[in-house]
Amino acid sequence: MHIDFQNQTVVVTGAARGIGRAIAAGFVARGALVYACDILEPELRESQALAEELGNGRMVVRVVNVRDRDAMQALVREAADTAAGAIDVAIHAAGGVLGQVRQPLTSVTADQWHSILDVNVTGAFYLSQAAAPLMAERGRGRIIVISSRAAFKTSLTGIHSYAAAKTAQLGLVRQLALELGPAGITVNGIAPGFMRTNPDAERQWEAEGADGQDEMLKRLAIRRLGRPEDIAHAAMFLASDYAEWMTGQTIQVCGAP
Ligand SMILES: NC(=O)c1ccc[n+]([C@@H]2O[C@H](COP(=O)([O-])OP(=O)(O)OC[C@H]3O[C@@H](n4cnc5c(N)ncnc54)[C@H](O)[C@@H]3O)[C@@H](O)[C@H]2O)c1
Repeated sequence: MHIDFQNQTVVVTGAARGIGRAIAAGFVARGALVYACDILEPELRESQALAEELGNGRMVVRVVNVRDRDAMQALVREAADTAAGAIDVAIHAAGGVLGQVRQPLTSVTADQWHSILDVNVTGAFYLSQAAAPLMAERGRGRIIVISSRAAFKTSLTGIHSYAAAKTAQLGLVRQLALELGPAGITVNGIAPGFMRTNPDAERQWEAEGADGQDEMLKRLAIRRLGRPEDIAHAAMFLASDYAEWMTGQTIQVCGAP
């Protein structure tokens, strides 16, 4: 199987770290023009430098908050303008727990609850709203949302809004798939298992202690933690022609059944 994205334009949110960074790099390595956004500018520039070492694609970085609908529209429009109107792939990897930690239900503030839903779910909605019309004009497109295994089980983070947001993404993916399929656009999700991609995940890993970490590894059929590249590979498959007849699905990529 040969997967290549020469002459394709890809928008990736949350590209400053971890999974989003690996996804952006994977597409650049295979020839794409990647428009990548995040709110962490220095890390985003690092992603750009790392990605452009890998292949003959190009990465343009922009500081954009995915909670800002107008800014998302502008990002996608700029990417399309650079590429004669084409947006081939839009991937929402921005999300996570935004530095929050487990708390009892009664202590969670309204802002804590809403912020995680906004970045994970509303961000995916805004990206889709911006990209889908441009994809529809050309009769082809791929939208991919990074959810979590928490959507199928419970969240290791213990954070209510994170569990709710990751599950909401499944519904959004299904609904968008139904609406956009006739326009030639597929919409799918990827649900990663736990991986050490950022300070929140690192804190969670440390809190497990040696025995807990050992247990976590034993629960994985493939006895290693996931790497961001594992998710990038799934994203590139979903974005490729090989996934043409697959839509509305969220696939678990987590080293275990
Ligand atoms: N690491 C894990 O164990 C794991 C497991 C399952 C799912 N995920 C999901 O994978 C995705 C990527 O997470 P990650 O683990 O690579 O690290 P992460 O959580 O640090 O990545 C999220 C990225 O989104 C960016 N971001 C946050 N708020 C933003 C905003 N308002 N606008 C633009 N960008 C914003 C962050 O700066 C960060 O670079 C997230 O959706 C996360 O929920 C991660």
